[in-house]
Amino acid sequence: MSGVEKRLKAGVTKDGEAFGQMPIFSDFSKIKKESQDSENYIVGMEGITHMVTFDTKQIEGYSEEEIKNKSIQMLKSRGLDQEPAAGIIYAKKTGDGWKIDPVVYVKAIDTLFYETACGSGTTALGLALALKDKKSIRGVPILQPSGLPIKISVEYTEEGFGGAQIQGPVEVIATGTLEENADFDYIVEQVKSKKQLTSLLQNGLVKLYQQVFSDAPYFEEFTDEEVIAYYDNYFKNGLVSVARNERGIIGFAVTIALSAEPEIAELSKKFGIDPEKTSYFAELGITKELRGRGMGERICQEQLEGLLKGCTVLVRTAADNFIAQTLYKKLGFQEIIEMKQDVFQTRIDGAAQTDRRVFLVKKL
Ligand SMILES: CC(C)(COP(=O)(O)OP(=O)(O)OC[C@H]1O[C@@H](n2cnc3c(N)ncnc32)[C@H](O)[C@@H]1OP(=O)(O)O)[C@@H](O)C(=O)NCCC(=O)NCCS
Repeated sequence: MSGVEKRLKAGVTKDGEAFGQMPIFSDFSKIKKESQDSENYIVGMEGITHMVTFDTKQIEGYSEEEIKNKSIQMLKSRGLDQEPAAGIIYAKKTGDGWKIDPVVYVKAIDTLFYETACGSGTTALGLALALKDKKSIRGVPILQPSGLPIKISVEYTEEGFGGAQIQGPVEVIATGTLEENADFDYIVEQVKSKKQLTSLLQNGLVKLYQQVFSDAPYFEEFTDEEVIAYYDNYFKNGLVSVARNERGIIGFAVTIALSAEPEIAELSKKFGIDPEKTSYFAELGITKELRGRGMGERICQEQLEGLLKGCTVLVRTAADNFIAQTLYKKLGFQEIIEMKQDVFQTRIDGAAQTDRRVFLVKKL
């Protein structure tokens, strides 16, 4: 969490909601009611101070811009604009929970935002509620300006706050592993949605694919439309993984159901391979500058882990692609000696030629 050095508990509940422990002070003295008859609480938290106000009439009918202007004046009049970060959290009771309008000012970069969602503001409200009623609160829904609720729980004891936790629905848009390397970090992830695939294709996947196969030993040319059509099919019938670092997409791997590749499926049957129970390793490539660092192997493993135990995996590669064959053998694939295919294709220099392909197989 930004601004916090200690470890905080976080995870995903059985219902698929994400939760996170919030950094708070247990000491009640960090929360002060502005005055005896005021509805405002100043809540000191690690790295940020919020003023929680239950007086929402003052912003009723105001635009976001007007709320921001009013809020910065309120922060200034209390000297809170001199804190590293400070917010005004307008809290209104609704049904079984609350609705907030959060405005946050960050001094170092002089920014003032009407936030669409605010975890620290939600927590500040939870602390104020627990203190007001002198009791713990559990999973109270706080509706954010985004329209989604964040649930807040605060443990109240006579000695102080025992802890605070926020929880809310999350959407999985990708799963993957962060690989930490001495020279560079990268992420290997499985593509989970069509939207994610489209964004990857537009942001480097098409280019990387064209680059990898325009080089030795392939010298093949693909149009953008061809690559996009391949990946549409791969996403429908298989598993697409990419490797990324901060510069962009640096690798890709794809397995699909062998039955989705009719020509190879037919050939496979002659060698006792059942296309219905077999996955086909359809694509693999790592950007040229970053080869030989274990990424090819890592992305292959990511793919194999995503396949069903007990299934067979078939891969085809060029007979002269010694590197790919060495990699597949290292991963436990064995060559099917008699199984070959001659593929006719036009190379990038216009020369038409027939390339020999070999097949390797592995049972998971
Ligand atoms: C094949 C390819 C994906 C390998 O990626 P990579 O990230 O360089 O491979 P890794 O660093 O993970 O190497 C894994 C293993 O592959 C083999 N390998 C990789 N580079 C090799 C080389 N230059 N010579 C011999 N074996 C090599 C080794 O077995 C290596 O394991 P090791 O390092 O323990 O010896 C990459 O070379 C590539 O994109 N080639 C062009 C596209 C292609 O041929 N794709 C295969 C289509 S079937």
